[in-house]
Formats: sequence, C-alpha cells, structure tokens
Amino acid sequence: MKKNKFKIGILTSGGDAPGMNAVIRAVVRYAICYDFSIVGIKYGYEGIFNKKFCELNVRSVSGIINCGGTFLYSSRCKEMFTENGVETAYQNLKQEGINTLIVVGGDGSFCGMNELSKKGINCIGIPATIDNDIACSEYTIGYDTAMNTAMEMVDKLRDTANSHHRCSIVEVMGRKKGYIALNTGIACGATSIIIPEMDIDIKKDVLDKIENSKTLGRRHFIVIIAEGTNLTETIYKTIKENVDMDVRLTILGHVQRGGAPTLIDRVISSKFGHRAIEILANGKKNKILAVQNSNIVDIDIDKALNMKKQISVEDINIAQNLSI
Ligand code: F6P
Repeated sequence: MKKNKFKIGILTSGGDAPGMNAVIRAVVRYAICYDFSIVGIKYGYEGIFNKKFCELNVRSVSGIINCGGTFLYSSRCKEMFTENGVETAYQNLKQEGINTLIVVGGDGSFCGMNELSKKGINCIGIPATIDNDIACSEYTIGYDTAMNTAMEMVDKLRDTANSHHRCSIVEVMGRKKGYIALNTGIACGATSIIIPEMDIDIKKDVLDKIENSKTLGRRHFIVIIAEGTNLTETIYKTIKENVDMDVRLTILGHVQRGGAPTLIDRVISSKFGHRAIEILANGKKNKILAVQNSNIVDIDIDKALNMKKQISVEDINIAQNLSI
C-alpha cells in the first residue's frame, strides 16, 4: 500500500490531565486504519526543540488507557511564546518531515499551535486541562477525574471535621475558573463556595453562612475555595478571628492532577483522539476540537481562541440555595 502523505506529531503540553494517555492511544490506534505515521514528541513543545521524537505504533500505546499522567511527558514551554521559538519549532518539525501536529493541552498550548499553523503545519488541538477553562469546549479532558478526586478528599476531611466540630477550609485547583470548586462544593454539601466568578463579600458569603448554619444546629463546616480567587489565606484568618471554633486549612494541590482517569475521561479522550484522525482523513485543517451540546465538533483555531465561556449562574444559585 502507498504510504500516506501524513506524518503526524503528537504532544501533550501544559499541566497534565488524566485522560491524556487515552487520547494518544486513540490517535495511534485509529491512525493505523489510514496508514498515517504517528510520531510521539516527548516533553511537550520542549521535545520539538530538543528533538525528542519517537515513532508510535499499536504496541507503544498498550496498557495506558487507565493510567494517569502522560507517557509522553509534558512541560510549559516559554520558547513557544516567542517568534524565534516558533520559527525554530517549525524548522525542526519540517526537518523531521512532520507536516501535521496534534496538541493535547490548554489555551496556552493552543496559542503556540496557532503560530505554527500560520507557518504551514496543519494543527489540531484537543482540549485537556483539569480546570475546564477552555472557552470553546463545554468539557476538557481530566476535569471529571479531578472533581472526583477533590470530592473524595473533601469527604474524608468532612469525617474528621465532623468528629471534632471543626471548620475545614479546602482550597481546590482552578487557576482562572471556579468549575472544580463549584461542583465539588455542591457534591460535598459545602457551607460556602468561593470562586473567581463571584463578587466576594467574606462577611456575607462565609461568616454569615457559618453563623446561620450554627443557629440551625450544624456543628462542622466545609468551605471550598478556588485557588484562582487568591483569597484562601485571608478567608482562613478571617474565620479564625471571627468564629468561635477550631479551623483547619487544607490545600489539595497537585493530587487533583493525578490518578487513573474516570470512565468519562477515558471515553471522551478516546472520542477526541478518534475525531482528530477522522477530520485529518477528511482533509480538514487547523482546528480545535470541542464538546458542544454534548457532541464533538471542530472549530477554526482563531475562532476557538476568541470564544468566551461563562460558568452557569444557575449552578451558582443552586450551590447558594443548598448551602445552609
Ligand atoms: O493544569 C491546570 C493547573 O493544575 C491549575 O489548576 C493550576 O493553577 C496550575 O495548573 C498549576 O500548574 P503547575 O503544575 O505548573 O504548578
């Protein structure tokens, strides 16, 4: 059979997200049907500069669908934000014969990809970040796993907060958006949820809620704060100074980025990887894949990067109404 004209590089970039391995697996497995060659690029964009290329075949992706992290490794590569960096990356890809690039990552990773696409590399972006903060897509790979991890951790903290009649403050990840915090808060019955999308009044949104819950007989409290508010320390100190009870602070941190992907993350990742190959086979160019109305769609890179996404006001209201 004639070798297909596509030589596709794939890399994972930015903060890792559970499900990245499942995407790589799907890309490699479906590419075989079209006789596309797939080159793994290790360490994200850094691997283009350092020429860390490796051929991927059906066996290279065995036994990884259930693994967290990314077996291609990841990085946050500053060089891709410079003109020289993009030019060098382009030349290195060309030298390797890679004419198509699949980038599995977040907004920052897609900006570098956009610049490469302008130089003639056909680029496809697949949204992956636990923060769910990619505007064009309702869902990003890793989000469900991260929320389930956060929920499990907060459930455990609740046990001990309850035993000691304490207030447990938990900071969850979310650099710019409060998706993880909002849903974890709803799922764990938090007394107060603090996210960057709200105008925050610590007295009204935290202290009054705790006092109100106290009068209704509650003896332990969970306060969930999104990292992106930068208010964790302030809220911790304010509660300590104003509420007559023991307070403990837990920053969940990177535990939320690890672990085996949930079923949802494995399935969506597989669908994204499959779709990337399908659209390439259909001759499409320079797209970001996205979930919209529960379907996978492809959007022009420029358009996708200019989209905006709002957290659901209805979900914020639900959280407020149930946190008593
Ligand atoms: O990947 C998203 C994210 O986990 C954010 O929630 C967090 O702010 C950031 O990455 C942390 O990045 P790093 O691992 O580079 O410290």
